[in-house]
Amino acid sequence: MRINPSVALLHICAATALAAFPPAQNVTWKSANFKTVLTWGPAPTADYSYTVEFSQVGQDQKRNPHCIKTSQTQCDLSSSMSDLTACYTAYVVSEPPEGVPAEPMEYPFTRAPKFCPDQDTVILSPSFKLEVAPDQSTTTVHITDPLTAAFKDGQQLTIRDVFGEELEYKVTYWRNKSTGKKKATSRSNLLELKGLDRGQSYCFQLQALVRSREPHSQLGELSQTQCTPQRDPSLLDQYSVVVIAGAVLLPLLLVAGLIAVIVICCRRKKKQQRTEKAQAQNVL
Ligand SMILES: *[C@@H]1O[C@H](CO)[C@@H](O)[C@H](O)[C@H]1NC(C)=O
Ligand SMILES: *[C@@H]1O[C@H](CO)[C@@H](O)[C@H](O)[C@H]1NC(C)=O
Repeated sequence: MRINPSVALLHICAATALAAFPPAQNVTWKSANFKTVLTWGPAPTADYSYTVEFSQVGQDQKRNPHCIKTSQTQCDLSSSMSDLTACYTAYVVSEPPEGVPAEPMEYPFTRAPKFCPDQDTVILSPSFKLEVAPDQSTTTVHITDPLTAAFKDGQQLTIRDVFGEELEYKVTYWRNKSTGKKKATSRSNLLELKGLDRGQSYCFQLQALVRSREPHSQLGELSQTQCTPQRDPSLLDQYSVVVIAGAVLLPLLLVAGLIAVIVICCRRKKKQQRTEKAQAQNVL
């Protein structure tokens, strides 16, 4: 059998191209709070570079080039994903470096997995403050919505701007040094907990919760732990002594005052009556 020399040459060319332009490996999206970076490897030699071709699923197939002829192994595509509810695809193409003309051929490329920001981005942990009421009856969790890398009309959006009513916060709390954990969720940025043991230190961890997302991505990143301070029980007793004393003494003082007023009034009246009588007798 004879091999067609031109076909053989083509194969050799393709093989050389593949060797000269190794396709990108491990093409992965890294995305948190809508900051979305496509990453891959390996770092290229001086003989080739990468270009990312990016498009929105369902829109025209025109691939929009980003990070053109770069020697980097990542490309920040956050600002190109203006529609957060859409899905996107990307290809990392291995091609000649800057200044070297491209051949009319298809260079090796690797396709990235489909990426849908509002489903796939990781929601980073919120920051929060704990406030214990002076009488220790209520512990309030004040939550701050995390900022995102997304903008609308020049305004940086928070997680709540993006998810709106669907955003909840899951609060996990436990008595310090105890293992039993309790959970609560809040639809607002304020959560009031009543009935915690007074004077005890409680610890809290928070994370965002969006129930409309896929089960594996509903919960956001878990925050660091914060604890309320332990109160000295004797201080607490002193506090309650003051409160109880006030509660008992105040009505007593009021009653005593009232009695004093009545007594003084009566005395004055009697005195007056007596003087009037005396005057009357004098007149007679
Ligand atoms: C791709 O990932 C595999 C497994 O994690 C790793 O062994 C390999 O070195 C990676 N390749 C590149 C080019 O980063
Ligand atoms: C709570 O417990 C941790 C260790 O589990 C400790 O470091 C922390 O100081 C405690 N907080 C209070 C307020 O007691």
